[in-house]
Amino acid sequence: MTEGVFGRESGHEQVVFCQDPHSGLKAIIAVYSTALGPAIGGTRFHPYATEREALDDVLALSKGMAYKNALAGLDHGGGKAVIIGDPATLKSETLLRAYGRFIQSLGGRYVTACDVGTYVADMDVIARETRFVTGRSPDNGGAGDSSVLTAFGVYQGMRASAEHVWGTPELRGRTVGVSGVGKVGHLLVRHLVEAGAKVLVTDVAKTALDRITLAHPEVEVVVDAEALMGERLDVFAPCALGGVLNDDTVARLRAAVVCGAANNQLAHAGVEKLLEERGILFAPDYLVNSGGVIQVSDELHGFDFERARRKVTSLFETTKAVFELAAAEGVPPVTAADRLAERRIAEVPRLRSIFTG
Ligand SMILES: NC(=O)c1ccc[n+]([C@@H]2O[C@H](COP(=O)([O-])OP(=O)(O)OC[C@H]3O[C@@H](n4cnc5c(N)ncnc54)[C@H](O)[C@@H]3O)[C@@H](O)[C@H]2O)c1
Repeated sequence: MTEGVFGRESGHEQVVFCQDPHSGLKAIIAVYSTALGPAIGGTRFHPYATEREALDDVLALSKGMAYKNALAGLDHGGGKAVIIGDPATLKSETLLRAYGRFIQSLGGRYVTACDVGTYVADMDVIARETRFVTGRSPDNGGAGDSSVLTAFGVYQGMRASAEHVWGTPELRGRTVGVSGVGKVGHLLVRHLVEAGAKVLVTDVAKTALDRITLAHPEVEVVVDAEALMGERLDVFAPCALGGVLNDDTVARLRAAVVCGAANNQLAHAGVEKLLEERGILFAPDYLVNSGGVIQVSDELHGFDFERARRKVTSLFETTKAVFELAAAEGVPPVTAADRLAERRIAEVPRLRSIFTG
């Protein structure tokens, strides 16, 4: 048998290709697993060069969501969707509504949310055609911008990392370098400043730097991410794009901890071992940045910010549990995180074998 589109080890439950020529919609919805409940994950709107590239991306992203949701303790499987095209020119009411109808046709097996290229306002439009959408505006019963609790979750992961390394979760007096002060990075800096940390920041966008120095004049601006990684830091917090940790950057990095919001920080498999060899504790990105999905999934029960915030606070304990398992099993924290997620994905559905009458 050939590998087909799924690839050798994909294991996905369902992949749906959606097309509406009139609006220009071309989307792929991938459901990796519904073992823990309806799959949840955002919609990425991106000008992929080829459909193959879009498919590879959605397959990888949906698998990542299954692990993230499992580790976050949610009753949700993992899914993700991509819309192919340039959102700046292609996005329209009819395209988003057509997309919403395809989501509705899956009967709740997939619940969407915002991702790169889609925003709260887009979710409101999609919601006119489907119930299975989160990340809507507060006016429409939604949780709004998910970066609020994403940043709070990263902060909790950082406190747990500090406790693991220095024996106290206190970040007062620690030097933290934040690369990327967009939606999440900006809010993370606020938590850090309030906690009494010394904060260094960098960003490629002058507007983002202007905003952060206006809000927090005490932060120090560094010229770029490379320079920031060369600084003597206690914690490096990547909050821009993925792939920032590679053989070269890890060799130069002078920090005891890496803990940030960016997805897929490890450029390739094996970097987690380099970090370990250099004595740098890596808080798994997909664990500490799960505050956003915890926030939006709460919407399905009628959004309650305080309830969602309490759930995100528990990332402190989960991060500690991951470090403890890593130490006990002699593996890097990302491997321990994967194991915990896989355990939950395997164990919880097994309970359905108990007949409940
Ligand atoms: N927003 C969320 O709820 C959420 C949830 C989970 C994960 N994440 C991840 O966190 C990261 C940040 O998300 P965001 O919502 O804050 O995005 P954002 O676009 O608001 O912010 C990203 C910032 O990084 C800056 N940047 C880009 N390239 C850079 C570089 N080379 N060096 C320094 N800065 C650079 C951008 O100018 C921007 O200010 C992303 O990787 C995202 O996938 C976000």
